[in-house]
Amino acid sequence: MAVREIKKYPEPVLKEKARPVSIINAQLQRLIDDMIETMYAAPGVGLAAPQVGVSKRLIVIDVSNREEEETPLLVLINPEIEAVEGEIESEEGCLSLPGYVTTVKRAERVTVRALDREGKPVEVEGGGLLARALQHEIDHLNGTLLIDRISKIKREFFKKRVQKSLAKA
Ligand code: NI
Repeated sequence: MAVREIKKYPEPVLKEKARPVSIINAQLQRLIDDMIETMYAAPGVGLAAPQVGVSKRLIVIDVSNREEEETPLLVLINPEIEAVEGEIESEEGCLSLPGYVTTVKRAERVTVRALDREGKPVEVEGGGLLARALQHEIDHLNGTLLIDRISKIKREFFKKRVQKSLAKA
């Protein structure tokens, strides 16, 4: 297992629509292990393959440290949101937008269908941080970032801040 570099905004791969995983082989298992290691090292509660530069529909999530409800480490291949319920606004950050936290409106509960790392169909249903992480990571597979979910004014402000820090570097 190896910690991979996390791609940061404005890396183009973060804006791409990721391709479905069609073959579950040793190379994919290595990618999954590396993503888990990278997520824990960051540390973060979730990571999507495009964040390590691989445009594939694959996410890992572990909210067990932050949730009262015990949820195991999730590896989800080709995840799809099947159902949503309610609406809730809460603070969110992203490993690809270091140092940025903003309030985002999301569904309160979601049901997600996917394949596990062995290719077996699974269904995950949850609320709280799990629901938020599922929606956030699946957004990454569609090239959608946190900053695409906020108001235009807040987004422009964020972009100016990034441009300034890039100019300094
Ligand atoms: Ni993110």
